[in-house]
Amino acid sequence: MNLEVVVLAAGHGSRMKSETPKVLHTVGGRPMLERVLDAVAELEPKRIHVVVGSDANEIQQSLSAVDVNWVVQESQLGTGHAVLQTVPHLATLTQVLIAYGDCPLITSASLKGCLIDSEVGLRLLSARVPDPAGFGRIVRDERDQVTAIVEQSDLSGQQNQIDEINSGILCTSSEVLKDLLPRLSSENAQNEYYLTDIVALAIENGLSVSAIEVDDYTETLGVNDRSQLATVERLYQRRQAEQLMQSGLTISDPKRFDLRGTMQVGTDCYIDINGVFEGTIELGNNVSVGPNCILRNVSIASNTQIRENTVIEDATVGQNCSIGPFSRIRPGTTIDEGVHIGNFVEVKNSQIHAGVKAAHLAYLGDAEVGSETNIGAGAITCNFDGTTKNHTFIGDGVFIGTNCSLIAPLTIESGAFVAAGSTIGKSVAAGAFAIERSEQRIVPEAASRMRKQ
Ligand code: UD1
Ligand code: CA
Repeated sequence: MNLEVVVLAAGHGSRMKSETPKVLHTVGGRPMLERVLDAVAELEPKRIHVVVGSDANEIQQSLSAVDVNWVVQESQLGTGHAVLQTVPHLATLTQVLIAYGDCPLITSASLKGCLIDSEVGLRLLSARVPDPAGFGRIVRDERDQVTAIVEQSDLSGQQNQIDEINSGILCTSSEVLKDLLPRLSSENAQNEYYLTDIVALAIENGLSVSAIEVDDYTETLGVNDRSQLATVERLYQRRQAEQLMQSGLTISDPKRFDLRGTMQVGTDCYIDINGVFEGTIELGNNVSVGPNCILRNVSIASNTQIRENTVIEDATVGQNCSIGPFSRIRPGTTIDEGVHIGNFVEVKNSQIHAGVKAAHLAYLGDAEVGSETNIGAGAITCNFDGTTKNHTFIGDGVFIGTNCSLIAPLTIESGAFVAAGSTIGKSVAAGAFAIERSEQRIVPEAASRMRKQ
């Protein structure tokens, strides 16, 4: 039997109290719905139908790359009503797996476990959870057979104790859905057409219903409010941290590690607390990242140290470098090996060649700095003239003294020496000495007179 998947993602999720559709809230930097669709795609279904509501456009735009059949549910009358909207789109005699777009931790392995290859059965994925509040509960008879799912607001007395919950994931066939969904009623506490009521209906109609318990209940956690979003985010981060630690990365405290993208690490890398890593991160061997660093789309070669409170974005850093503390490396920057960038140094769209030192308080923007050049404290490339961004070229082995303004476009050739405090607007030839400074005056013994005044 072929497989089609229905993912429910309609409704704004009123408990989120947000302008953004619930399923677009992110976990690990990606919309929850996208994560569910990723897990679903691994089953290689014939088709994926995603039910969206009035925010269809917003959802489709932010997930424009996915190949799914968008089905609009005009008003959110419940999960059963949502699946009903897909029925005209389902092929006949096909297996249908249903999942919810607000359960982003579900894995394809658990989804696979729920599949049944039959026209007349129904299988759902359940979980035993420490705190079942808010979930639909699996009701079983004395022979342990599933008899129904009862929603939180419809629970009666004893049923409150049930800790086996409905994950929302279930598998049946298009025939069963076509037959049973139109028969759902909305006579319940929420006046909604619950998908979960098809369980009792299926049993009444003599279909076989089974529940398979997921190994790791955290996979089934749904997100209805921001507190649950935070719980799921931490679980997701823990999962990633665990994988990275298994692959040999030291993370000083996995609770204070956030990866919103992908990370590849060599051997013996170390990540201190409060790192935020976004996009694609590649670390060579023996790279260490100090506390409070933010790295976004960064590649760092072996034996480089990124020290505390450093921000690096869309940049490449070579081996044996020391960057930070408090450095800011902005997009378009490449740093070759053995470079030292120190505190309060900002580098933007620049090529910094091997062995350069810019240890304190400098700005290098739209610049190329040759190897072994020293950039003094307070040196600034004045790259913007109010209209355009201009380029500064500094050769190899140059010395730029403290507090120099280098007015671009400008070339300072190899071996040149620029004296401290100079404003340099004309190019400096190789090996030349450049100084631009007003003359210093000394008035002997005038200090005490000045103070009296
Ligand atoms: C649902 C289940 C509950 C289960 C829990 C698991 C029902 C009635 N209840 O409860 O048994 O334990 O999920 O997390 O199914 N949606 C639509 N259209 C609608 C209503 C909802 O597309 O008219 C979508 C939502 O976007 C959401 C999903 O369906 O992604 C689930 O809806 P939600 O309101 O979050 O259901 P729960 O109360 O969490
Ligand atoms: Ca939910």
